[in-house]
Amino acid sequence: MLAERMASLSGSQTSGMRNKAKNLRERGINVINFAAGELDLPTSPSIKRAVREAVDADRTQYTDTLGIRTLRERLAERVSRAAGVAYSAEEVGMTAGAKQALYNAAMVLFDPGCEVIIPAPYWVTFPVQVALAGAKPVFLPTEHHHFQINLDELAEKITTRTKGIILNTPHNPTGVVYDRPTLEGIAALAMKHDFTVIFDECYDQLVYAPHEHHNIVKLVPEMKARTVLINSFSKTYCMTGWRAGYLSGPKHVIKAVGNLQGHVTSNPNNLAQYAALAALDPINDRFVDDVRQVLSTRRECAMKLVRQIPLVSCGIPQGAFYLFPDVSKLMGRSYKGKLVANVDALAELLLEEAHVAVVAGSAFGSDRHVRISYAVGTKDVEEGLVRIRQLVDGLT
Ligand SMILES: Cc1ncc(COP(=O)(O)O)c(C=O)c1O
Repeated sequence: MLAERMASLSGSQTSGMRNKAKNLRERGINVINFAAGELDLPTSPSIKRAVREAVDADRTQYTDTLGIRTLRERLAERVSRAAGVAYSAEEVGMTAGAKQALYNAAMVLFDPGCEVIIPAPYWVTFPVQVALAGAKPVFLPTEHHHFQINLDELAEKITTRTKGIILNTPHNPTGVVYDRPTLEGIAALAMKHDFTVIFDECYDQLVYAPHEHHNIVKLVPEMKARTVLINSFSKTYCMTGWRAGYLSGPKHVIKAVGNLQGHVTSNPNNLAQYAALAALDPINDRFVDDVRQVLSTRRECAMKLVRQIPLVSCGIPQGAFYLFPDVSKLMGRSYKGKLVANVDALAELLLEEAHVAVVAGSAFGSDRHVRISYAVGTKDVEEGLVRIRQLVDGLT
């Protein structure tokens, strides 16, 4: 009964783990949820107020497909500042989260038969969306370079069928931030071999000093013609459930995205657009600084504790809010007779025995890691990592 394309599509493992943890919590079990890719903090009061006002003003009808004009203008100003090159409102579009922005981009850019390079490990949704467009994801392993992209190895992956690359910096799940020479090198390859860069910078404001986020268009302005920038209000403004994201790129690409989106969702949620508009007000810069500060404290706490877990090694995240520890030395051991055969078995064991939800690296194309989000409260960060250590101590 189902279409063939569904054969390659299973539910998102990150959402799956998040739901399992929620179910256990509803049964009264004290689960520490390291699986959710979202902050535990509420949306800023000024954003909530703006949306209440929008409701009272009956902003409840369809809007322009790619968002209300004022919002697109404000987004264009923000993107122009970030990219150091002028973007007009026609070069920017609002979507129901960055996830829809990425999906739209994949659908309007990639054809069956073409190849799209994705550095691995990768955010779980990238290859699925590429495959839904009928294109082939080509993975570029990065683990042996501390998750950084090696330009020679990237060059080897490029063929005449290469139509694009999907970059994400700061990176989910590894926490790395791509440096300037790497991004300049990728830009040079994209221009030489004529492919598009989808540049997901959803965590651009969540970077820890001395590291710095670099926008590829800012580094190489000629890249504006072949880059689709993707961004989101979800992480920075604690707005995951509002579903508010946006994309920026050449006019004809954004126009095509509008044509597609018009037939899929008509427009992004009207009220979420007012939330986004309020988020862009400079008054919220302070809110973002506070979020970064909170995350920085949690990162320190998480690193201190993860280092105490025997046999587990973990690099320091440079941005975003995930630890991606290497747990491969735990494979083959057992806990109360249960074999840790692989990272999935470890994630199951942690949930069942320690009541800690993590996402197995297999969701991101790694069989050696698990992902731990430290965006949960500091107490939970402490409690969860102590529970993991205790379980690891009990492995035989
Ligand atoms: C790298 C990356 N891109 C995109 C998204 C999607 O974000 P949104 O909530 O805006 O759809 C996420 C969410 O986890 C992400 O980690």
